[in-house]
Amino acid sequence: MSERTLVLIKPDGVKRGLIGDVIARVERKGLKVVAMDLRTLDADTAKAHYAEHSERPFFGELVEFITSGPLVAMVLEGPRAVEAFRALAGATDPVKSAPGTIRGDHALEIGENVVHGSDSPESAAREIKIFFPDRF
Ligand code: PPS
Repeated sequence: MSERTLVLIKPDGVKRGLIGDVIARVERKGLKVVAMDLRTLDADTAKAHYAEHSERPFFGELVEFITSGPLVAMVLEGPRAVEAFRALAGATDPVKSAPGTIRGDHALEIGENVVHGSDSPESAAREIKIFFPDRF
């Protein structure tokens, strides 16, 4: 059964020219890109997206970083797409993410870890509504 997930190529990934690399990995895996947009988030959208982390000490930093420049928002579709993309992304802390994953190959700092992927089908549905309100 097909599932959708929301993926962001974060401002560090866009600045470093990693859009093509991330999309190539997604397509090689067999996940389908069904929506995509390059945009700079405003603070309200960023806060809505990361609402579940609003009490965490790094929330301000997270919002500042994600609004710091253009990002690519995508909706991916495929069997167990949420889990499939998180496996491609690797662990949140890039020092712990395995070589061969996006973060394992491209990142060192937890705050600047190149990509975001929804953590459950429920989060995916909520996040897709924020980024692509009229599309699905
Ligand atoms: S996860 O994937 O939701 O289990 O990861 P989690 O550890 O809960 O982190 C949630 C998001 O916050 C980012 N993060 C941080 N940003 C800045 N500084 C610190 N210390 C920090 N720790 C975690 C992390 O990259 C996650 O972002 P997303 O975009 O969801 O991957």
